[in-house]
Amino acid sequence: MIRILVLNGPNLNMLGVREPAIYGSVGLGAIEDRLQKLAEAESIELQLFQSNHEGYLIDKIHEAYGACDGILINPGALTHYSYALRDALTTVAIPTVEVHLSNIHARESFRHHSVIAPIAVGQIAGFGAYGYEMGMMALLQHLKANR
Ligand code: DQA
Repeated sequence: MIRILVLNGPNLNMLGVREPAIYGSVGLGAIEDRLQKLAEAESIELQLFQSNHEGYLIDKIHEAYGACDGILINPGALTHYSYALRDALTTVAIPTVEVHLSNIHARESFRHHSVIAPIAVGQIAGFGAYGYEMGMMALLQHLKANR
């Protein structure tokens, strides 16, 4: 069974309430429920975690070493500056897909750059909540192809 860790960073616990014109009206709980259903259909073992704290996300990534096959992450604003998060991902060397609800490349210039993207398998941005499902399926395909 393929094991995937789904990580969400700062402020993503507020999805549904937070700037709905940009991030949509679907809450994180509903996104995670959909992922869980999809995971069951695809025989994926899913672990779900959200934190507003960089260090807790890094701890989770370290715990994933030897325990998870892939990581799906929306790092929130940490995307744009957290070398610590990037280093944690390169440390465990677990294939990672980066997901964003909004199209970060079409927004403020500080959002155009991701420090995570160069070490990720790929990035999905701009498809709202559906991007998580796309990201998980893309990660699954990658993991199966590289087994
Ligand atoms: C985000 C984009 C980031 O720039 C922002 O800081 C977020 C959410 C997205 O999903 O579109 O918190 O990662």
